[in-house]
Amino acid sequence: MKKEKTNHQAAVERAMEAIRQAQKERGDAQWRPAYHVAARAGWINDPNGFCFYDGQYHLFYQYHPFSAQWGPMHWGHAASPDLVHWNHLPIALAPGEPYDKDGCFSGSALEKDGKLYLLYTGHVDLPPGNSRGQDRIETQNLAVSEDGVHFEKYAGNPVISYPASGDIHQGHMRDPKMWRREGRYYCVIGSRKASAEHGQALLYTSEDLIDWKFVSVMASSDGDLGFMWECPDFTQIGETGLLLFSPQGVEPQGRKYLNLHQSGYAAGTLNYGTGVFCREPFELLDYGFDFYAPQSMIDDKGRCVMIAWMDMWKSEMPEQKNGWAGMMTIPRALSVENGKVIAAPPEELKHLRVGRITREDVAVGEATRLDGVAGDVYEMDLTLDLSGADGCELSFRVSKTQRTTLRYDKSSRILSLNRDLSSVGPKGERQAAVSLEDCLLKLRIFMDRSSIEVFAQGGRRTMSARIYPGKDATGVLFAAEGEMRIRRLDFYPLKQIWRCD
Ligand code: FRU
Repeated sequence: MKKEKTNHQAAVERAMEAIRQAQKERGDAQWRPAYHVAARAGWINDPNGFCFYDGQYHLFYQYHPFSAQWGPMHWGHAASPDLVHWNHLPIALAPGEPYDKDGCFSGSALEKDGKLYLLYTGHVDLPPGNSRGQDRIETQNLAVSEDGVHFEKYAGNPVISYPASGDIHQGHMRDPKMWRREGRYYCVIGSRKASAEHGQALLYTSEDLIDWKFVSVMASSDGDLGFMWECPDFTQIGETGLLLFSPQGVEPQGRKYLNLHQSGYAAGTLNYGTGVFCREPFELLDYGFDFYAPQSMIDDKGRCVMIAWMDMWKSEMPEQKNGWAGMMTIPRALSVENGKVIAAPPEELKHLRVGRITREDVAVGEATRLDGVAGDVYEMDLTLDLSGADGCELSFRVSKTQRTTLRYDKSSRILSLNRDLSSVGPKGERQAAVSLEDCLLKLRIFMDRSSIEVFAQGGRRTMSARIYPGKDATGVLFAAEGEMRIRRLDFYPLKQIWRCD
């Protein structure tokens, strides 16, 4: 007998039809990424459910397939055998049940008994003046798949509602991130206090992913770390526990915290007995303009790999006029050195390379171009010797009127990324403290059609930004105050991984 289509299946089909239509109507492709994950059409934000399942990396994401603006959230889905080549898969989750009718918000994935489980936030908007006195209800819900592609929502949802007691705001509780440890399951959930505008993270535990118990407030803001912690994530690298989170409402401090919301981590130790995470101070995970809601996973090789949304809330997104909005960073492999996170491109990304130009020992003073070093989709690895220079300036995506600049000032040890002249789109400058090692500055730059990601000193500092240069803005210029030596430059054009974009 033919099974009746569930509400969920019908909602997924409507959304898939909307994508097919929107893809046909999509505008100019000039800013479409060649090798980053972006949706075929429509709006995306946070990475969700990043995991390794059945031989592939799976990356879900917050998705509004019906327009290039944020709207009722679905989960989009892409998969990759190697973190390099990605394929689009059908939408995994669509909103529509009483507990998620206004959105399937962020969450995570875990394999259990060969099945893939998603734990996500069901978001319901409440009308003004309702009896709860809140504008929303957020609960945590499960969906399960046997093939990693088609998901069924669990009939007993929600599996987590607000705890009955505790200093927990009854309107904000979202973005569960699960992990397994010694046969038990845990999840950390973003939250805020009821008594004050302080963000916090809640710890839950379960034996079967269905029956969850509140353990404790795992960590919280002591007043200067924002009013809400979104997208918390806990991972362990060697001896170091890492709580990643995205605090909203942190005030700017000097050159730090200039983006609308922040994303970073606190290193520390989670006491599984009390559920309390004893933490070191908050550190940013990226010093650029566009980096939010990172999510990590441990892969089959035991590596911790993180990916983030490479955009910022309320930022101008010129690609919206072309029918799409938002993209992910490249995946970044995390390690810890002296309690600080290093985020570097994983080895596999070398498979993107389709050519190479190498230059060694080039002296640079005045603005210099190097033969063949130009383009809009490339990786560039540089070792710069600044012993004879006070600083240097590298310009990318250069045309007569446009450029995106990366400047290093030796006396202040500041690396600055400036997009004032990048072209249309958001402008400004971001800065990061970077120390030289033996007067050497090592940079790895990943350029795509509308993004730049800078990895300085092996990933000890990263800076990510969306930029929207014209098609002819492909030049690269090197300049120095004094004399800089490019000890070595490797320039790699990168390939287009999307087959039918
Ligand atoms: C973070 C966030 C999450 C929420 C999702 C909604 O960017 O606000 O807290 O689940 O986006 O799309």
